[in-house]
Amino acid sequence: MLAAAAAALSLASCQVEQAPAPQAKAANVAPILDAPDAVDIHSYAKPLEARVTHVALDLNVDFDTRRIGGTATLDIEAKPGAKEIILDDKGLEIEAITDEAGQPLPYKVGANDEHLGAPLSIQMGDKRKIVITYKSAPDAGALQWLTAEQTAGKEQPFLLSQGQSIENRTWIPTQDSPGIRQTWEAWISVPTGLTAVMSAQKGKKADLSPPPPNRASFYFNMDKPVAPYLIAIAVGELEFRELGPRTGVWAEPVMLDKAAAELADTEKMVSAAEALYGPYQWGRYDMLVLPPSFPFGGMENPTLTFLTPTFIAGDKSLTSLIAHELAHSWSGNLATNATWADFWLNEGMTTYAERRIVERVYGSEVAEQQTSLGLDAMNKAVEEHGGPSGADTRLHLDLKGRNPDEGVSDIAYEKGAAFLRTIETVVGRQRFDEWLKGWFSRHQFQPVTTSIFLADIRQHLIKGDNALETNLQLEKWINDPGIPSNIAPADPHIFAAVDVAVAGFRTGKLPDLGTWNGWTTDQRLRFLNRIDRKQPSDRLAALDRAFALSRAGNNELRFAFLTLAVNNRFDPAVPALEEFLTMQGRRKFVRPLITALAEDSQWGRPIAQRIYAKARPSYHPVTTRDLDKLGLLPKENSANL
Ligand code: BES
Ligand code: ZN
Repeated sequence: MLAAAAAALSLASCQVEQAPAPQAKAANVAPILDAPDAVDIHSYAKPLEARVTHVALDLNVDFDTRRIGGTATLDIEAKPGAKEIILDDKGLEIEAITDEAGQPLPYKVGANDEHLGAPLSIQMGDKRKIVITYKSAPDAGALQWLTAEQTAGKEQPFLLSQGQSIENRTWIPTQDSPGIRQTWEAWISVPTGLTAVMSAQKGKKADLSPPPPNRASFYFNMDKPVAPYLIAIAVGELEFRELGPRTGVWAEPVMLDKAAAELADTEKMVSAAEALYGPYQWGRYDMLVLPPSFPFGGMENPTLTFLTPTFIAGDKSLTSLIAHELAHSWSGNLATNATWADFWLNEGMTTYAERRIVERVYGSEVAEQQTSLGLDAMNKAVEEHGGPSGADTRLHLDLKGRNPDEGVSDIAYEKGAAFLRTIETVVGRQRFDEWLKGWFSRHQFQPVTTSIFLADIRQHLIKGDNALETNLQLEKWINDPGIPSNIAPADPHIFAAVDVAVAGFRTGKLPDLGTWNGWTTDQRLRFLNRIDRKQPSDRLAALDRAFALSRAGNNELRFAFLTLAVNNRFDPAVPALEEFLTMQGRRKFVRPLITALAEDSQWGRPIAQRIYAKARPSYHPVTTRDLDKLGLLPKENSANL
């Protein structure tokens, strides 16, 4: 911790020496790390010179022009004498930049990079508050504008945002770097009949001026400093249902009953997480079930997790997703990766914590099964990233010249989780739990790096025990590709019954319906993921006939079967595949299927071309950005407008 504290340079405390800042504000200013491995190569900001501490947005949401526009007022802390601040800007249309009194400030938008956008340099002189009047572009990468037809209710349009990793610079002019924590507030004006929700406390502000008759206004306030990728908005026909004292769900009215039923265990999950990792610090834990085009399973926007509707299976069998997003309230949102190279600190810790929450709420058998599925996913990710010597199988990633998105794989999630589970196994659960809880409290509301992680675990867990240090192989886990030899294995018996059926299938025997019906979703997934990848058509047909997999209401099962179908050119599943790829836009489902089709030039590619042309309009920009690279459609069809 000493090393971490020494590495942390607080501009707030620097300034306190110059001229005391008001107490309340200083307490809310999170330090900027100055170690070389904390420098974010995906942001133009120079936060040690000048940094944003607070963002106040006053914005109009315009569905006709597909733009969000208004003002962003930024509070800045800077080194004494600093005259310039650099923000991140991707495609913003800037009308004016002034000081608080309305005096124009000179500014310049630098050269554009395809991933990062452009630096926005503002000559602020000795001003420490600036006002930017701007609009987002209609093709802003964070935003998805849905027509009424693309929603569940079909009556009102819908807007949703997705900030992680570096998308928020397409609609908010600020320093878009996870190590630069900012408090924020927002006044949002939308057409009447629509509701705006954001990842912050909803509030009433005295100076909220009455909106014009055809507009409604909403005010939100986040008084804890957060990484800017966690600022999120959605606007649509939304209704709220309470689930517990501090939990609830927003959804389109036609989805609300189903959503609330599926999420009935949420309050229990919050209590389980608190028992493990200390008090939940964000006030409410609400969730928003989005239209099916939402590109992720879930997104841990503080106070308001964003969710795909595809997790709704009717039997709560996919709600480990909630445990996951909830766990980010500690790993990710309290202690946040300072740069995207250390993404594993967000996702690996969260995946580990997710299973601990699942264990408390659903029991150790369920958790062990999910751990085992996770280890299979990890091994698959190693194969897909160049095998045990592949550079991208390292936890600490090299993302130079790449979009941070390229680092998103089951290496971060599952190798990261396996690493922590290995430490737990070596030191014992009680000791490990105590350390992890301490980690969150020592680093709450702060950026963290892999080297801070190492220093902290050495100081607070290993405490000079050389034998333990050797056993853990920490450096190997973090710096080397592949999987270290001391990995804690999955319980070999946890899927025993299923594995018998997998062997039986190889000799031509289908599990009988009673057996299949008695299995949990995780057991069924084990079966579908473990049977041979090459299957003749009649075997796939028999499977589908027996268990109705190609149209399964459980989307994970459906995806697992359709993956097999595509790998085996199984024509009868093509209509179901088309339906699956057009009814939802979750990137984890659509990207692998469309990519596999596209890479099969004889059979799959024409199918991919036809389906993608139809599905593309309802996919989020973060999904189409990748899929467009497959060159399936003529250029003019892939343009965003
Ligand atoms: N924070 C991630 C989503 C994310 C990661 C968005 C990287 C953009 C860049 C979220 O917590 C997540 O991991 N979602 C998973 C679900 C989870 C259960 C593995 C997903 O969307 O599939
Ligand atoms: Zn996550």
